Amino acid sequence: MNIMLLGAPGAGKGTQSKYLIEKYGIPQISTGDILRAAVKEGTELGIKAKECMETGALVSDEIILGIMKDRLAEADCQNGFILDGFPRTIAQAEGLETMLNAMGKKLEKVIALAVEDSNLIDRLTGRRVCLACGGSFHMVYNKPKKDGICDYCGKELVQRKDDNVETVTNRLEVYKNQTAPLIDFYKARGVYFEVDGTKEIDSINADITSILERK
Ligand code: AP5
Repeated sequence: MNIMLLGAPGAGKGTQSKYLIEKYGIPQISTGDILRAAVKEGTELGIKAKECMETGALVSDEIILGIMKDRLAEADCQNGFILDGFPRTIAQAEGLETMLNAMGKKLEKVIALAVEDSNLIDRLTGRRVCLACGGSFHMVYNKPKKDGICDYCGKELVQRKDDNVETVTNRLEVYKNQTAPLIDFYKARGVYFEVDGTKEIDSINADITSILERK
């Protein structure tokens, strides 16, 4: 099962991915998580990505496609993957298509989570994340079982540097201009599906599962 979750910052891609990993036993590939790990480790990639991420701009297509080419070739992607936060531009979508064709694979379903901007700002400014496993929680809407601790791996939860109102506003603008055109790109390929991302987390998960299990 090769799928992608599409949606604005804060739409719930990371949250839903965690449920899908458990249900289908395939990995989530989040370019945001890969870049944050590189920034934390201070690698060459991290140094290049840091400024873009802190302002909410996109990291270059060339860098992202290079990362994904290596990542999709790893053994854990054999039986499928969940793309989260990639592709994010038409150039990345075209690059992905070329890569998958070369591997004899294709993106089977793109599921978009639809949420209004006003909700997204509220979700992102109240979010707390786990930098170790990518777990994502909210101080009001999706509390961890134990305050400040990740339910999935037991590590400390923190606030992301780009989850402040100014950067979030910029990220939403970047999404509209550069990522939203992917909706028509994938509609044209007949693989686009949309769910209401404002419902309860479990209910969205059921809607996604029903789309994935449709022939
Ligand atoms: P990235 O890490 O991908 O961030 P993003 O797309 O902005 O998405 P988020 O992780 O913020 O949101 P999400 O949809 O996963 O929401 P979540 O589930 O956490 O990218 C960060 C940066 O890296 C980019 O700005 C860019 O610079 C760079 N980058 C990454 N990929 C790139 C690429 N391909 N090309 C170029 N640059 C790239 O949920 C949000 C909150 O809402 C949480 O608190 C959660 O608990 C809560 N919540 C979730 N669902 C619900 C619900 N149904 N009801 C109520 N609350 C909910």
